[in-house]
Amino acid sequence: MAEIFRHNSIAAKRRADYLGQRGAVIWFTGLSGSGKSTIAYCTEKLLLEDKIFTMVLDGDNLRFGLNADLGFADTDRNENIRRISHVAALFAQNGGLVIVSAISPFAVDRKTAEHISFTAGVPFVEIFVDAPLEECIKRDTKGLYKKALSGEISHFTGISSPYEAPEAPAMTLHTVDSTAEDSAQKVYDYVKMLAELEEMTKAAAGLAVAAGKTIMDIYNGDFAVEYKDDTSPLTAADLAANTVICDFLKERYGQYAILSEESKDDAKRRANPGCFIVDPLDGTKEFVKRNGEFTVNIAFAYHGKSVMGVVYAPVLDKLYYAADGLGAFCQSGNAHEYFSEKNRIHVTDKRSNLTVMASRSHAGAEHNALLEKNKAKIGETISIGSSLKGCLIAEGKADVYYRTGLTCEWDTAAMQCVAEQAGGVFMQGDGTPMRYNREHVLNEKGFFILNSIDNKFE
Ligand code: ADX
Repeated sequence: MAEIFRHNSIAAKRRADYLGQRGAVIWFTGLSGSGKSTIAYCTEKLLLEDKIFTMVLDGDNLRFGLNADLGFADTDRNENIRRISHVAALFAQNGGLVIVSAISPFAVDRKTAEHISFTAGVPFVEIFVDAPLEECIKRDTKGLYKKALSGEISHFTGISSPYEAPEAPAMTLHTVDSTAEDSAQKVYDYVKMLAELEEMTKAAAGLAVAAGKTIMDIYNGDFAVEYKDDTSPLTAADLAANTVICDFLKERYGQYAILSEESKDDAKRRANPGCFIVDPLDGTKEFVKRNGEFTVNIAFAYHGKSVMGVVYAPVLDKLYYAADGLGAFCQSGNAHEYFSEKNRIHVTDKRSNLTVMASRSHAGAEHNALLEKNKAKIGETISIGSSLKGCLIAEGKADVYYRTGLTCEWDTAAMQCVAEQAGGVFMQGDGTPMRYNREHVLNEKGFFILNSIDNKFE
């Protein structure tokens, strides 16, 4: 590989401006006969009618050409998905909206596909087309289940070869109780949401800075501190910033729900695919201590996934923001140019001598024991308040943060997107993905943030 050099193409952002659209990979996974191809072509039609340059890469069809040399042994499927992933990412990188429809039965291959898209700088949307095996056997449109069950064909997914359902897909389409048209509409809505994400991020970033100004007016004067039922502090700044943020979001994005630490929860939010998750002042304790380490957090979750995150620290004047497929950035709140390459941030690639974040106000015996057990990997330990911890990992100033204590959705949703889009890993304490807009807003399992999954503490 040493003799091969990459040529740089026109920047994705400029290409998107010329074409009026940004590419993405929409990846359908599911059993044979679950309805992937039907929904894929239905979605393609909707998008083309909307003048969006779209193409379907169908697993079956690709096996007539590009993948004609492959069968269905595990290694062949690995190679099948690897090739499709690269082709999809290439088209998407060049502005195409690519819908992949392939069984893609193995989680590891879908992770590879996601990684290839991430490296290409395009959003990857994993969609689980879910129909129970019994239903697919009943449908058996190609007559293949009959042959697989009789042993006439081998390595058949669901019968003689495993299917690993996605743990936390961006969206699940249940094809038993909904029509292909309804499912396609949901995918279309997802694509439209992605298309507005860049503008939404800019708006949310501006809004966080505006809320920060409101907070600073109070910070610079005398303020009273009240204590809520859970003994956490509350100031006029929390409430004033909440009003600034929620009023704007309701006015500009009234079609979506809002979950805010400082507003009464609205049970209807869960029925809405899109939900803003807001902490108008994260780190009120730091605010009260006047150490500057508090932030304004605004995130947007779509079907539960944090696809946009904005974290603004008014005293430090540091604005972090990220959007699915666009990456993570850090700049001053006064800089009006967004998504500029010079402000892009990335996690470190360290595998030893790790810088570990410790919480200022919360640690506990369990946490200390974990650090003690893994001390050979740790270089230095640093502390900072609020969601700045995740942001510091995103910008490569720290590598690991474990949180065993309780937090809520609004404490983590924004920094999760920032950390992930900077190439980091964000998971619940038990290693499962964190999802949002849940019925119970407590993050009961704790969480961890890493520059790389290789650095997971045991
Ligand atoms: S994948 O597992 O490698 O992702 P892919 O989506 O490309 O599979 O191809 C699956 C299609 O090939 C099925 O829809 C079916 O029509 C056909 N097929 C033939 N043999 C098999 C098999 N052994 N297992 C699964 N699908 C098969």
